[in-house]
Amino acid sequence: MLRVNGLMKRLDSLVLLRDVSFEAKKGEIICLYGPNGSGKSTLLKIISGLERADGGHVFFRDREITNLSPWEIVENGIAHAFQIPRPFRSMSFLENLAVSCMRYMDTDDAFRQAERTAEEFDVDYLLERSSSSLSQGELKILEILRAYLTGAELLLLDEPFASLDVENARFLKEKLLALKEKQVSMLVTSHRMRIMEEVADRFLELKEGKLYAHG
Ligand SMILES: Nc1ncnc2c1ncn2[C@@H]1O[C@H](COP(=O)(O)OP(=O)(O)O)[C@@H](O)[C@H]1O
Ligand SMILES: [Mg+2]
Repeated sequence: MLRVNGLMKRLDSLVLLRDVSFEAKKGEIICLYGPNGSGKSTLLKIISGLERADGGHVFFRDREITNLSPWEIVENGIAHAFQIPRPFRSMSFLENLAVSCMRYMDTDDAFRQAERTAEEFDVDYLLERSSSSLSQGELKILEILRAYLTGAELLLLDEPFASLDVENARFLKEKLLALKEKQVSMLVTSHRMRIMEEVADRFLELKEGKLYAHG
C-alpha cells in the first residue's frame, strides 16, 4: 500500500535520511522508533508533503506521491496527525470533526458523519465540549479522528503518546486499536515500546537517518 524507496534528505552538510526504504500493507501498524534527532519526524513530513525529499520515491496505492503538496497527499488518502494537536480552539469537538469531512461532503452530511464516527469510537460524550476544555488524551484523539475523517487510509502519527499520563495513554491505545479494526494503516513514531507492542504489527528503527527492521 505504502512503498518508500531510497529516500534521501539533506540539510546543508547534514544527512537526515539515508536511503530509507520500507513498505506498509493495508491495515498494518508500523512503529518507528529511535533516538531523538534520528529523522523520524522528517520521514513522516516527507511522506505527507510537508518537507521535500532530496532523492528517492514514495508510492501509495501504486501511485507516485513523492514531493506532492500536502493537500494533494491528503487527496491521495494519507493524513498526518501532529505531535502537538492544533484543533480550532473556538470550536467544539463536533465542529472540529465536521470540518474534516467538509472537504468531500456538504455541511449537514459532514455533521452526521462526524457524529457517527464519534459514536463508533465511543467519544460521543465529547461532542459538545469546547476543544479548549479537553484533556491531553482527548485532544490527541480529536487530532487523530480529524486526520481519519479526511478519508485517510494511512495515518501518520508523530509521538501520539508523548506527554500522556497512564490513563490517557490507555485511552488513546484503545482508540488506535479501534482504528486498526477498521483496516486503517498507521505509521507511528513512539518511544513507548510497552504500549506499542500491544498495537504495532512491526517495528522499524531509525538511527542517524538509517533504517533497521526489527521483528
Ligand atoms: N528545520 C530544521 N532545521 C535544522 N535542523 C533540523 C530541521 N529539521 C530537522 N532538523 C534536524 O534533523 C534531525 C532529524 O530531526 P527529526 O526528524 O525531528 O528527528 P526525530 O523526530 O527522530 O527526533 C535532527 O538532527 C534535527 O536537529
Ligand atoms: Mg520527532
